[in-house]
Amino acid sequence: MAPSPRNADPQLQKKMDEASAAINKTIERLLPSTDLAENKLFDAMRHGTLGGGKRLRPFLVINCAALFNVDPARARRVAAALEFIHCYSLIHDDLPAMDDASLRRGKPTVHKQFDEATAILAGDALLTFAFEILSEPETHEDPHVRCELIQELAKASGGHGMVGGQMLDLIAEKENFDLGTISRMQRMKTGKLMAFACEAGAILGKASEPHKKALCNYAHDLGLAFQVTDDILDVEADPQDTGKDTRKDEQAGKSTFVSAMGKEQAKERAEMLIEQAIKHLRIFDGREQTLVDLALYVLERRA
Ligand code: IPE
Ligand code: IPE
Ligand code: MG
Ligand code: MG
Ligand code: MG
Repeated sequence: MAPSPRNADPQLQKKMDEASAAINKTIERLLPSTDLAENKLFDAMRHGTLGGGKRLRPFLVINCAALFNVDPARARRVAAALEFIHCYSLIHDDLPAMDDASLRRGKPTVHKQFDEATAILAGDALLTFAFEILSEPETHEDPHVRCELIQELAKASGGHGMVGGQMLDLIAEKENFDLGTISRMQRMKTGKLMAFACEAGAILGKASEPHKKALCNYAHDLGLAFQVTDDILDVEADPQDTGKDTRKDEQAGKSTFVSAMGKEQAKERAEMLIEQAIKHLRIFDGREQTLVDLALYVLERRA
């Protein structure tokens, strides 16, 4: 079974477990097994999306949306769409042409369980399905809201977002990036989707600009800190805890925060970013505790 974030404080852990259960149900409903001749594709999509993962991005969508009293069913649809993009990015990230990984969420990666072509197609289908979900009226009755969600998710996922960051990440195996470029790469590859997770709650709730901005700033710092801790876990964690291959970055000679500044300084950088992230939440006047707890968990996480 894939790892769960066991070192979160019990109250936060309970909330994360509840969000995971809710999102699993939504994904099950959106991705049923079929008796079609091409069902292998759906099995691969289910393998890549169900049975594991911390579900951090859905947790952010659900909790940010709750700040603006959004109908939880709508938040869950957006959370599932974003998780599909995240899972597609992981399926492709694990391919031999990219990080060449065998283990993900405690299970064989999609190309190991199936084959490379099926993994590519499962990623493609999850990517397009995410936008189909956002375009449907059940996501929000106001087409302007749906359109804004689609536009922001497209920007966060594409060439100036996650995919662009992944391109930089591959170049980082051949070139020694300075800290500024490493920072930009990590903000793109991980930060942008995290930022969408928070912004989506604000879009669904038609939040005021200052509230939206505060959540975006929180998410940008949180996202970068999250990738810094991912780079640290790559060098010091155990695959039994993370559920994925470790020591991959060093093997590939990749520029990361750890290679550029060492583990200790990288930890300090993550602490500074989390402190900064939490400060952006003050505008919520006491309703931000769950997001504060989540930020602290990102710093302490072992998986
Ligand atoms: C892993 O993300 C990839 C990064 C962007 C660092 P997560 O650590 O959130 O992976 P899951 O969803 O819990 O498997
Ligand atoms: C992946 O970063 C970020 C994505 C956009 C998928 P990593 O390559 O560091 O993620 P892990 O360590 O394999 O989960
Ligand atoms: Mg990678
Ligand atoms: Mg990887
Ligand atoms: Mg990593």
